[in-house]
Amino acid sequence: MTGVLFCCVTPELALQFSAMEKDVDITKAVRQHVEMEQFFTGFAAKGKAKEPEQQQQDGNGAAAEAAGELEKIADEVRQCRKCDLGSLRTNAVPGEGNANARIVFVGEGPGADEDAQGRPFVGRAGQLLDKVIAAMGLKRSDVFICNILKCRPPENRDPRPDEIISCLPYLQRQIELINPEIIVALGAHAARTLLNTNKSIGQLRGQFQQYYAGLGRPPVKLMPTYHTAYLLRNYSKENRQRVWEDMKKVLAELGLPIPKQAGK
Ligand code: URA
Repeated sequence: MTGVLFCCVTPELALQFSAMEKDVDITKAVRQHVEMEQFFTGFAAKGKAKEPEQQQQDGNGAAAEAAGELEKIADEVRQCRKCDLGSLRTNAVPGEGNANARIVFVGEGPGADEDAQGRPFVGRAGQLLDKVIAAMGLKRSDVFICNILKCRPPENRDPRPDEIISCLPYLQRQIELINPEIIVALGAHAARTLLNTNKSIGQLRGQFQQYYAGLGRPPVKLMPTYHTAYLLRNYSKENRQRVWEDMKKVLAELGLPIPKQAGK
């Protein structure tokens, strides 16, 4: 019965579901749904966490294949009409970056600039994210950047549960393909959705958490931190320092050098 229910979650059913269980673990329900689908279609059987040596052996071929698969997801997203946001957007914003990225940054959803350009994090919050990435000694092209929602909610309102339910499978597939070592969840919506919790970002940030990527796959380390839009609204040295401390933990976990001058 559960399998049947979760294998056919239509937007209508999702709405019904969210109406029935308002404060519920929406992401848990979505995860169950996706896991059921993966189980019955064998999607999960493809993936096995990549060992570093295997990554080298796979080389460019695997990266190119992943990039191709990511582009297929992006095409699906651009045609998606699973929720109302599909008819309100100018452009869908599937996400972009390195298909072989060690870090995936996940935000909340596109704003006006992103909607206009079809690219994630290109407005003011995006420019600040670029600075954070540069401070880490990385380039935007080293990482993958995307959002929980692929279309802009009107007036930048918070994502609705039915929208998250419709959209989350795209992100889950992107993460499965990229198989990053670390996910950085930017802000409360990304962190709560991916961790299936109602805790505040203040409680969550700064400590590695675990994102469960699906049946038969090891969990991915997830670092929640403040959203760069929050940093812009609350631009204090303390908040900047908190985000930098979180990013230093990410760099340390990846065995990457920690640039000295950053975070000042
Ligand atoms: N805020 C987000 O959460 N995502 C974007 O892409 C831009 C701003």
